[in-house]
Amino acid sequence: MELIDGNKIAADIIAELKAQVALLPGRPPCLALVRVGEDPASVSYVKKKEKASADIGITSRLLFPPVTISQDELFALIDGLNADSEVDGILVQSPLPKHLNEVAVFRRIAAHKDVDGFHTLNLGKLAQEDETGFVACTPAGIMQLLQRSGVSISGRHVVVLGRSLIVGKPTALLALQRKAWANATVTVCHSQTANLPALTRQADVLIAAIGKAGFVTADMVKPGAVVIDVGVNRVADSTKKTGYRLTGDVHFPTVAPLCSKITPVPGGVGPMTVAMLMQNTVKARRQNLPFPQP
Ligand code: GUN
Repeated sequence: MELIDGNKIAADIIAELKAQVALLPGRPPCLALVRVGEDPASVSYVKKKEKASADIGITSRLLFPPVTISQDELFALIDGLNADSEVDGILVQSPLPKHLNEVAVFRRIAAHKDVDGFHTLNLGKLAQEDETGFVACTPAGIMQLLQRSGVSISGRHVVVLGRSLIVGKPTALLALQRKAWANATVTVCHSQTANLPALTRQADVLIAAIGKAGFVTADMVKPGAVVIDVGVNRVADSTKKTGYRLTGDVHFPTVAPLCSKITPVPGGVGPMTVAMLMQNTVKARRQNLPFPQP
């Protein structure tokens, strides 16, 4: 069993992006980070995105409206960023408070600034394999992890556990693309899937994104499979300063010995999501330049 080191691969990508940003003409790329309220996980994620931006030479614009913001007020805030020629990328951190319609908010972001890739137009471009669109960061990060650790999915069976807009659906679409790095046979499973273990056991590459700690157990994994654990679950742990620890969707101690390769949590997919957000922001800046750069 080999661990896939997301921290190392993400650091390589960040270094590559830093070199590219230094060569861009004009002002540096600018990313607007919108966080509604003070959800502790969102506070931590947005800080990571802010830090990675600074490391690369991307300017960040931080907007932290209160949890009571109305949908119309949030729309007005997004409209202002859409119209601002100094802003290349806009990210509204998910999850949003229940009174806000998340899909409507994602759709309000101008598609050419939608570095999260959640806008209708970008999801459509992903389905059409139009490379001018933005691909959601976690799915893009998963593909990079596989490619950069020498795992070919072409012709192989990829099973995606989870059908979310943020991970499951775009991951399935990416793995299906007519590209040398994709070309997989894809099965998408979810909470209503009958006989789930029989399907997951067929996976050459199993991608777990269901948000349930330790859900994937050894009986669900084919020996020699590659397992990508997208779960970031907080479980109580009194031995930790924070009172919790992060754990994946995969029961690591029993599943890892079976795998040819597996991602740890933390240190697997998480850092890749941030690296892909940075990549999308650089792409947005390039595409928004008066003479778009290759
Ligand atoms: N919450 C969890 N993952 C993501 C992501 O990739 N983008 C945003 N905006 N929110 C998230």
